Amino acid sequence: MQLNSFRIVLLLVFSISIIDYVYSSDFVPAPPLLPRRKYVEHTKPISINPSQWVGKRIDNIQETEIELTIGIKQRNLNTLEKIVWEVSDVKHPNYGKYLNFNQVKSIVEPSEESVRIVSNWLENNGIDNFRLSGSGDFIKGKVNVLKAQDLLKVEYQRFTHEESGRILIRSLDPYSVPWELEDHIDFIGGVNHFPLVARLNKMENIKKELNYVSPYLVRKVMNASIVPAHAANSQAIAQFLEEYFSQSDLDLFQQHYRLDQKAITTIRGPNRETEPGMETALDIQYITAMAPNVSTWIVSTGGLHEGQEPFLDWLVDMSSNPDLPYVHSISYGDDESSIEKAYTDRVDIEFQKYAAMGRTMVFSSGDSGVGCTSSCDSHVPGWPASSRFVLSVGGVDWDGTNMNGDVISGGGFSNYFPRPQYQEDVVSNYLSKKVDKSFEKLFNSSGRAYPDVSSFSESLIIAHRGRLMSIGGTSASAPIIAGLLSNINSKRLSLDQPTIGFVNPLLYKIAKENPESFYDIKTGSNEFHCCKGFKSSDGWDPVTGLGVPNFNVLLDYMTKFDSS
Ligand SMILES: *[C@@H]1O[C@H](CO)[C@@H](O)[C@H](O)[C@H]1NC(C)=O
Ligand SMILES: *[C@@H]1O[C@H](CO)[C@@H](O)[C@H](O)[C@H]1NC(C)=O
Ligand SMILES: *[C@@H]1O[C@H](CO)[C@@H](O)[C@H](O)[C@H]1NC(C)=O
Repeated sequence: MQLNSFRIVLLLVFSISIIDYVYSSDFVPAPPLLPRRKYVEHTKPISINPSQWVGKRIDNIQETEIELTIGIKQRNLNTLEKIVWEVSDVKHPNYGKYLNFNQVKSIVEPSEESVRIVSNWLENNGIDNFRLSGSGDFIKGKVNVLKAQDLLKVEYQRFTHEESGRILIRSLDPYSVPWELEDHIDFIGGVNHFPLVARLNKMENIKKELNYVSPYLVRKVMNASIVPAHAANSQAIAQFLEEYFSQSDLDLFQQHYRLDQKAITTIRGPNRETEPGMETALDIQYITAMAPNVSTWIVSTGGLHEGQEPFLDWLVDMSSNPDLPYVHSISYGDDESSIEKAYTDRVDIEFQKYAAMGRTMVFSSGDSGVGCTSSCDSHVPGWPASSRFVLSVGGVDWDGTNMNGDVISGGGFSNYFPRPQYQEDVVSNYLSKKVDKSFEKLFNSSGRAYPDVSSFSESLIIAHRGRLMSIGGTSASAPIIAGLLSNINSKRLSLDQPTIGFVNPLLYKIAKENPESFYDIKTGSNEFHCCKGFKSSDGWDPVTGLGVPNFNVLLDYMTKFDSS
């Protein structure tokens, strides 16, 4: 056995050296012994749920365009990660010493060679409209589908999502790139990825307002006083697909609850006031209710274009922006297993860049509890909630007296990312005491565990299309937490302290040293379909994380740390 594998290795070495010889200099080969592979496969075969997506031939293929986004390999990634842990560690002398956009860029920027090789490849294929992003590490542009097929050795189809009617141009074939490119690109977006199509949140008309969750109730239960906004502070919500913003709904909401009003600072991307999205209404109304007067951006990506990958668009747009808001609330998620590891690894680097710049990324943890495969044999973790470099926010419901872990609250363990040090002790404590051994095989106990914290995710009142209604989902808990964190930034900025940035290490530290900073949620569980879920319990758990912030107490602790 050993001998055999040894021989195989030798054979490989031998044949490689022959090929090199055959192709070197100006030696013209008689028919080569082995054809040199021109292309390397860059992805695995894709499988989709055929009951959700139906693929057809593209009829007007000559006129159909697809947008491709090429992530160029960056450099010095160990340095970047080291910086992230240092600037986010209150015990480190570099705590809060964030880098600016150009400093980060100069560390990780791809080599000129990488950019040149990718550009040459495009040009040699007659593509000259692709552009390098401001961050210098994505190349992006639109191309005819026939051209893309030829470029990537795939066949595209036109897919329709049965339930929502959404249309996508995608390929199920793993794409290939010439071998010269392999070491210079991370991934190519716009080929294989099928974004999760969001389901409508539970929504109902309001009968008795008292039975629902309002900004007042959130403040009262979370012990969150109003904090004066700092003029230099900023926050943002991200919107995908055709979710637009309505100023009149925001006005209605703010007037109804007598909240301080301030105009939205920046709306990036397309907006159609006449088609207000419920998700947008929820996010903007709660982030501004929690952090009134703080400059707020709405970043909207993805209109009707069939070839678009909205999350990737958002990422490229944000990564090229030197003046990024301090806190971002993003209610977006996908099944981790449905996405290429190479893609999530690259996005993780982008999150590290934001962390190095003192930005806070808040993601909802998902509305499918533990998630579950169709064969019921394993949980399905959600991503980006499973990234170590974002704050993942789960949900609780309110029964009129108490908060309980919400059954929808996305939670569990990543299969892609290992458990970070900051949560090691609380998570191993949970695993050692609380997990029933019979279901340990459903999840990967060595992975990054989430969520980190929680807030309200059921029966929140919003204004939508001119009237009040109620809505639920971890889509609600994320902007609540994001707005409250913005208040901490306002307070810290007023004390000349750096912004909270990548806040996870500090939150876990505070929870350990000052447990009264969180309402520990001990009831509820997050089973999903035929998969058994986790139970909330003392301390951290994979339903509600560390719990719901007791905001005023947390604010006190979080303004005690400064760069030394
Ligand atoms: C918001 O601005 C208004 C008008 O300047 C001011 O009265 C109010 O106190 C501010 N509120 C906060 C939370 O900063
Ligand atoms: C479990 O998670 C680790 C990362 O923490 C990963 O390396 C490993 O591949 C995962 N196992 C499975 C079966 O996904
Ligand atoms: C609310 O926060 C204050 C600190 O500002 C703290 O003294 C008080 O105990 C907290 N209230 C509750 C109910 O936890």
